[in-house]
Amino acid sequence: MAGKKHRSADWFSRQDIYGFIYRSWVKNRGVPQDQFDGRPVIGICNTWSELTPCNTHFRVLADHVRHGVLEAGGFPLEFPVMSLGETLLRPTAMLYRNLASMDAEESIRGNPLDGVVLLGGCDKTTPSILMGAASVDIPTIFVSGGPMLSGKYRGHDIGSGTNVWSMSEDLRAGKLTLEEFHEAESCMHRSHGHCMTMGTASTMASMVESLGVGMPGNAAYPAVDARRNVLARLAGRRIVELVKQDVRLSQILTKQAFENAIRANAAIGGSTNAVIHLIAIARRIGVDLSLDDWDRAGSGVHTLVNLMPNGKYLMEDFCYAGGLPAVLRELGENGLLHKDALTVNGQSIWENVRNAECWNRDVIHSFKSPFKEHTGIAVLRGNLCPDGAIIKPSAATPALMKHRGRAVVFANIEDFHRRIDDPNLAIDERSLMVLQNCGPKGYPGMAEVGNMPLPPKILKRGITDMVRISDARMSGTAYGTVVLHISPEAAAGGTLALVRDGDEIELDVAQRKLQLMVSDSELAARRQRWQPPKPALERGYWRLYHDHVLQADQGADFDFLVGKSGPFVPRDNH
Ligand code: FES
Repeated sequence: MAGKKHRSADWFSRQDIYGFIYRSWVKNRGVPQDQFDGRPVIGICNTWSELTPCNTHFRVLADHVRHGVLEAGGFPLEFPVMSLGETLLRPTAMLYRNLASMDAEESIRGNPLDGVVLLGGCDKTTPSILMGAASVDIPTIFVSGGPMLSGKYRGHDIGSGTNVWSMSEDLRAGKLTLEEFHEAESCMHRSHGHCMTMGTASTMASMVESLGVGMPGNAAYPAVDARRNVLARLAGRRIVELVKQDVRLSQILTKQAFENAIRANAAIGGSTNAVIHLIAIARRIGVDLSLDDWDRAGSGVHTLVNLMPNGKYLMEDFCYAGGLPAVLRELGENGLLHKDALTVNGQSIWENVRNAECWNRDVIHSFKSPFKEHTGIAVLRGNLCPDGAIIKPSAATPALMKHRGRAVVFANIEDFHRRIDDPNLAIDERSLMVLQNCGPKGYPGMAEVGNMPLPPKILKRGITDMVRISDARMSGTAYGTVVLHISPEAAAGGTLALVRDGDEIELDVAQRKLQLMVSDSELAARRQRWQPPKPALERGYWRLYHDHVLQADQGADFDFLVGKSGPFVPRDNH
């Protein structure tokens, strides 16, 4: 096949001992010689794993990508990378996001690949491999696994995560029997796919589509919808063209694309986890994206999508109502989309969505009649979070967005579990629950525990929300007036470490303020006495993580991974 010399030619087009070695071993499964004629070699980066239940259909999805690559005249080579399952992996999948990103980066760079299709679904499988690919910067398309069908329990829709929180609180409050609890488990997750609320997985699939690195429809087609397989097949065809045109990931992931994604996140009421992940991805590809960009670009955007955990519908409903293209069209018609941003199908984002239709205005509201007004992600500052903290107003209780009260402090998550059910715990609904040492270094891995369950004695009085403050993250399926990602975290010596029971804290979301009402001199005295907690493990990857992880406001990436090395391997093996 004549044409442009691709990166893979340095392996497969050689006519010497090394060319023999590169080709001969690949031929061992029946690959004919004509596949080494200089055609684009496409990697299919697969996060399939039975330990990642959300990604167990990915062998089928990869086969559809493979068909597409072959149809377009490319040569597909599938490879596995570390897969991060949100539900099984301890202590938290986030601890390993950077490790998986290194796996993806080195697998892509070190092998004879001209382009790559990334397959991700469960929360961390999306940012990890996209971060890795960004550091290599070859033509890349992302195909998400798609959400599960809606959960159905006794005549009601139940959503992944969201109803786990509410049902486990009902169980604790004695409103649900154990038998009902077990029955709901079977009813909630009844098909392939990832969480079907607008949790982190659905949010990240929406980020992929709004960044332009996924094909239109990527966010919402259910995992078991045939159109998901069609999308994978089309991605397989399209990546071959992207290689021929040399459209690299950095031409897609521009500052404008990130701003589109930030606005899309506000419009879908997306997960707070997207803040950390998008900053990390941007810093890999060389785009300067900060917490302030989130507040600035997202301000003035309304939540249009009525999905759990903020609303009542699920991703299947979102798909049938028109999916993300219908949302992006609303943004575009209201001056909130960089319309020229290039996407992987070769069209601008506006060309992709300008004719998108909405089929159900109760699921996807118009901008003129939004589901919730002026939401986005609010970035808080103050002596408690000099480098920032975030809150998701669409998931919070409006009456608590301006609140002053006394802190009830938990030194870590074990301390919280030990004391929260104690009927003698000195707490009332005006208290602010403060959790320390659950940030990147402290947990380690920044657990999704920021939405601490309320004490049973308060739940039993019918109160469902209190202000909660921590350096932790929150599941995208969770809700409440929850201040997250406090930077610097407690374990890194942030002011959060110095909060004591009874201290007054003032939260004012409208003023973007979070202030610990303790004098500077008293804080200085407490800091003198403060000792950093010992790392949970002193060896191996946990040690590497503890020593190199950056704070949440910088995407919690490793300091040595920021930026990219590009596609060139500095040393050859010959
Ligand atoms: Fe995998 Fe929710 S557990 S997406």
